[in-house]
Amino acid sequence: MAALAFGLCLVVAFVALSSGKSALPPPLVIWHGMGDTCCNPFSMGAIKKMVERKIPGIYVLSLMIGNSMAEDLKNSFFLNANHQVEQVCEQLSKDINLQDGYNAMGFSQGGQFLRAVAQRCPYPPMLNLISFGGQHQGVFGIPQCPGESSHICDWIRKVLNTGAYSKAVQEHLVQAQYWHDPLNEELYRNSSIFLADINQERYLNESYRKNLMALKTFVLVKFLKDSMVDPADSEWFGFYRPGQDKEIMPLQESLIYTEDRLGLREMDKAGQLVFLASDGNHLQFSESWFCSNILPYLQ
Ligand SMILES: *[C@@H]1O[C@H](CO)[C@@H](O)[C@H](O)[C@H]1NC(C)=O
Ligand SMILES: *[C@@H]1O[C@H](CO)[C@@H](O)[C@H](O)[C@H]1NC(C)=O
Repeated sequence: MAALAFGLCLVVAFVALSSGKSALPPPLVIWHGMGDTCCNPFSMGAIKKMVERKIPGIYVLSLMIGNSMAEDLKNSFFLNANHQVEQVCEQLSKDINLQDGYNAMGFSQGGQFLRAVAQRCPYPPMLNLISFGGQHQGVFGIPQCPGESSHICDWIRKVLNTGAYSKAVQEHLVQAQYWHDPLNEELYRNSSIFLADINQERYLNESYRKNLMALKTFVLVKFLKDSMVDPADSEWFGFYRPGQDKEIMPLQESLIYTEDRLGLREMDKAGQLVFLASDGNHLQFSESWFCSNILPYLQ
């Protein structure tokens, strides 16, 4: 299995090297998840290295939000997602390596943040967006926490359960900004300063739709044994049917799709929307899985 995948990767790299006029593969931007950083050698650092090994000559930017890894980690909990997206848009617009377009890979909440970048900031153009375990319909629970952050998560969970939609919590707690309470849909729509906006649940911003549809492909990876995202279906834009928290409503039945508020239905029909599954816990995949499923989008 590994040997097969390795062979596949080699072929891909060879094509990239021998494809005539533009020698450089498209650059790649990575956005890490909650409780993680740009450069952790066991997470994004390893992903960056792997991609650089598979695609010789590629420029990979793993986003650091803030001026140090410590700030980056803290900001993944406490820096308003709208401000994070704004900062990233500015950084991307100034990066000369990205001006002809770039691919993007978002991990966990980095998935919905990069979608916001695609919707709000069309220049430079994002080519393919790959979301690994992103919570595109939000979460109604954070059952487990990644890495060393479990004490922060215990605290966050309490805050979210008591007042996720209060103005103060919305402004300062990132996870509140994509907290989606299916028992209080109207309150969520009124109060969510990030997710309800990018999902066009308050009003329609035509440019969000147009910009998202400009992606070549939007790849959504769901982790079938995910124990950190509730519900994991959110990774494919599914969510609890309004008014209860047991039964899941798939994307195709939701208003976002039936009213085509984001252009997803049109993208789906045109083959621009790709649903992938990895049979592991949150963000768990093998190198050979990555090689055969993701690498083709990064060429
Ligand atoms: C729509 O989104 C764009 C990009 O974020 C923004 O500049 C514009 O003001 C928004 N339009 C409305 C009507 O909110
Ligand atoms: C949501 O906002 C509307 C319009 O401002 C208001 O009438 C309604 O009561 C609000 N609902 C909730 C649950 O906050």
